[in-house]
Amino acid sequence: MIEEKTSVILFLGNKGGIGKSTILANISYFFATHYNKKIGIIDMDFYNPDLPSIFGVDNRKMGIQNKKMIPVKVLSNLFLASYGFFLTDKKLPVILRGFQEKIITEQFVNDIDWNGFDYIFVDFPVSFSDGGLTLIEKLKKIDGAVIVTSSQDITLIDTERSIIFANQNSIPIIGVVENMSSLVCPICKNSIELYKRESLESLLSIYKVKILCKIPFDRNLLVSVDMGIPFIEKFKNSELIEHFKTIGDEIVKRIGG
Ligand SMILES: Nc1ncnc2c1ncn2[C@@H]1O[C@H](COP(=O)(O)OP(=O)(O)O)[C@@H](O)[C@H]1O
Ligand SMILES: [Mg+2]
Repeated sequence: MIEEKTSVILFLGNKGGIGKSTILANISYFFATHYNKKIGIIDMDFYNPDLPSIFGVDNRKMGIQNKKMIPVKVLSNLFLASYGFFLTDKKLPVILRGFQEKIITEQFVNDIDWNGFDYIFVDFPVSFSDGGLTLIEKLKKIDGAVIVTSSQDITLIDTERSIIFANQNSIPIIGVVENMSSLVCPICKNSIELYKRESLESLLSIYKVKILCKIPFDRNLLVSVDMGIPFIEKFKNSELIEHFKTIGDEIVKRIGG
């Protein structure tokens, strides 16, 4: 069960490959190492569970103790629950009926000992199917949502869906992370804008949602994901860490803790 004092934050983003899991992983790691908070992660991406690999713990299993499931320990104060830990052959497609999504979600919320956690960060699925809906029903409260997007036109409608979904469920939107917004030229060091910017900003102004930060495309993020070492651990002196701090500070400011 999740205690009343634990803050639950959803990471939303209706476009696959936008960087939701990567950003959630780094924010979680940042909270655990820089703010000394106890963080639990619920990976709701049952079909392509990437978080075990991102944290380099994909060869581990979730155990059972006193009839409770035990999430996998990443750090002494960072724990991950993922369906990926239950897959025996990871190359096989994951095929689940709605009722199975519902059962797994109920177990992740009710059958894990989440006592003593300061925050639970949820990698919310890209679709609003039985898993996500069950999660919303089972959680007693959701403190906020962070939406991850790019400002490519085709992504905007997906982002708008995430905003409306949060509003419909009375989930306060902490802000939007604009990911892969630009690229620093390795030769001249100038920043190259990858998308036109105005469309995202005008969409967000309609809903009074703010951009928390713009994270550039950085090859080291790919490298860290492939190595299974969180970026902020592997590249401690990167300028990007400032962005993770901005997101973290805003979460703390809005939610407390
Ligand atoms: N800012 C970035 N710069 C470079 N690569 C990134 C960035 N953000 C994410 N990626 C990479 O993009 C890919 C998709 O990211 P992922 O977090 O899995 O997306 P999602 O969870 O939204 O499907 C991953 O390989 C990740 O390493
Ligand atoms: Mg993902």
